[in-house]
Amino acid sequence: PAGKPLAGKKAIVTSGPTHEPIDPVRYIANRSSGKQGHAIAAALAAAGADVTLVSGPVNLPDPTGVKVVRIETARQMLDAVQAALPADIAVCAAAVADWRVAAEAGQKLKKDGSGVIPDLKLSENPDILATISQNGSKRPNLVIGFAAETENVVEHARAKRARKGCDWILANNVAPGSGTFGGDHNEIFLISAVDAASDEVWPRQGKDGVARALVQRISRHFA
Ligand code: PMT
Repeated sequence: PAGKPLAGKKAIVTSGPTHEPIDPVRYIANRSSGKQGHAIAAALAAAGADVTLVSGPVNLPDPTGVKVVRIETARQMLDAVQAALPADIAVCAAAVADWRVAAEAGQKLKKDGSGVIPDLKLSENPDILATISQNGSKRPNLVIGFAAETENVVEHARAKRARKGCDWILANNVAPGSGTFGGDHNEIFLISAVDAASDEVWPRQGKDGVARALVQRISRHFA
């Protein structure tokens, strides 16, 4: 129907940061607010898609008409995404922690006056975007990732698209002063093919505008 170009399509969106525990009261996190991912989930739902939003800890209301699954860690995010499959569309907008503390302490680490400083060993988290991109028969028809870069944005994002095996990458500059993490605006470089001639530069706009532009682009893909 008009205005609902994605009716009948199922979408999974990841959003927000992950929290990786150090001990019962401390964690490693990042500055993602969830604004971009939540806006995309809302725009997909407005276009008629059946949307599951897998979100890390954020201070945002649930978008209307979206099923929200709340998680804390990268491993929980991967489990929740896999539980939500199959889907036609996956959009990974979350800022997933690349590393977690290898051995989470069961009790609060104590500063006992001896001057001994904890030595945190890290281990690598699962890569959700790469995992679903290589998911065989359960791979969504259209897998879209983001690339958060502080330099050589397009070049790094192009390499990331190839390495992770997703269809499209939305690259954004997250250098200090860009305001991309946590802010209300974003400038996107869409990389949808190996050939640089099909790259698109979207003007800097509100994150809601980015979400609507992406949904238009997705709708065209399925039209
Ligand atoms: O949340 P906001 O404050 O609105 O900010 C939005 C944003 C800057 C977080 C968003 O636009 C964005 O860029 N999200 C991706 C952040 C990121 O972690 O990028 P990356 O270049 O490190 O990762 C590349 C891609 O792999 C991303 O799609 C990411 O979701 C995915 N990934 C990364 C690591 C991992 N372990 N699993 C993943 O799925």
